[in-house]
Amino acid sequence: MSETISSFLTQDHRDCDEMFANLENIVASENWIEVEKVFESFSNDLQHHFNMEEKVMFPKFEEKTGMTQGPTAMMRMEHQQMLQILSQMNEDISKKQKDHFFGLSETLMMIMQQHNMKEEQMLYRMADSHLSTDVLFVVSEMKELKRA
Ligand SMILES: [Fe+2]
Ligand SMILES: [Fe+2]
Repeated sequence: MSETISSFLTQDHRDCDEMFANLENIVASENWIEVEKVFESFSNDLQHHFNMEEKVMFPKFEEKTGMTQGPTAMMRMEHQQMLQILSQMNEDISKKQKDHFFGLSETLMMIMQQHNMKEEQMLYRMADSHLSTDVLFVVSEMKELKRA
């Protein structure tokens, strides 16, 4: 079976989740030098995922469906919310505030799980069906998008 928007972006959610779990483990161990490296990886992965959606997939979806104030607008807003929390987590790391960090990371985890579920169960499926013949092109454009 060939790759779809759903399969490609869903796998990327799993990869981000894995990096997030690594980050929580390393913060728990209070190895602050490693924490900074893993935070940077997680943060880059997440930003890159959002960029693949916001710069490639969402605009294509909006163009095809004419829906600019629908699910993609909602998802963009939630990305901003998550990035906000991420930057607060970064502050906690620089101050070595482990307990406060875990409060935030729990919140991020909840928002991210709900966000990803909405994308996987609704938006990605809609995208695969509306973009139909452009699916492979959109996936390859997402793959080509440079990382920070
Ligand atoms: Fe998203
Ligand atoms: Fe996503």
